[in-house]
Amino acid sequence: MRSLIDIKELTPAEIDELIATAYDIIANPAKYAEVCHGKKLATLFFEPSTRTRLSFEAAMYELGGNVLSVSSAGSSSASKGESVADTAKVVSCYADIIAMRHPKEGAPLVASMNASIPVINAGDGGHNHPTQTLADLLTIHREKGRLSDLTVGFCGDLKFGRTVHSLITALARYTGIKIVLISPDELKLPSYIKKDVMQKQGIEYVQTEDLMAVLPELDILYMTRVQKERFFNEEDYLRLKDSYILTPDKLKVAKPDLAILHPLPRVNEIAVSIDEDPRACYFKQVLNGKYMRMALIMKLLEVHA
Ligand code: CP
Repeated sequence: MRSLIDIKELTPAEIDELIATAYDIIANPAKYAEVCHGKKLATLFFEPSTRTRLSFEAAMYELGGNVLSVSSAGSSSASKGESVADTAKVVSCYADIIAMRHPKEGAPLVASMNASIPVINAGDGGHNHPTQTLADLLTIHREKGRLSDLTVGFCGDLKFGRTVHSLITALARYTGIKIVLISPDELKLPSYIKKDVMQKQGIEYVQTEDLMAVLPELDILYMTRVQKERFFNEEDYLRLKDSYILTPDKLKVAKPDLAILHPLPRVNEIAVSIDEDPRACYFKQVLNGKYMRMALIMKLLEVHA
């Protein structure tokens, strides 16, 4: 039995397999409509979500399975003090697989150590978000036809941005990847990711605060929200929240085939007028997340079309 807590638990070959399954699901949805018949997914979300929870649930329904859902900490016995470990043991009695989001880093790992069914990390604090990375990788693959030989800019909150941490970890294993880190000084990428991921894999990277200086060289621009919920101090959030706002005017210097990604939700960091630009890929990314979650659920439940 396997869980997915960190994207590096999947080899690049397994990611290729998941992407191939997602392409087949897109081409032949009827083939997959009953593969999870009789199986139940429990979505345990102790932190707000729109995309991740609903796409997991849509994924399971489209595979012919069913869903049990906890959509907030307040609606579960976590609010009475039940531990993550006990919750995982209890839900293992009802479901076949768990997708868990939690504000505490490491909570899905604790759940996986206590559950008797697979656990998927659906985002843990400012740490990791491996299934968002699967959505991002399929989006890059569909837009560019490859996951190698790309210059990828990450812009915004690189300190607390769990989607950034997971995507850099995944991309660092491909050849010809150059990473451009664009953030205010206070929101720089944690040094453990620079050291243990990028330097270890020999990935070329630069850090800058100046989006406009690096925008012309990017193949992918991964924008992120400055996350209010991760700040201890409202003053710091207000000072940093609008550090980068992408507008049509700024995009004039970008490559014509740039792909703009954002895990969403968006607040101010991408002007709504960019949504009509063919380079805007963030709503395609949302849909790709459902396909990759379908492929992942099948893999962890060991079911086949
Ligand atoms: N991208 C993402 O995790 O969105 P939600 O918080 O809405 O799930």
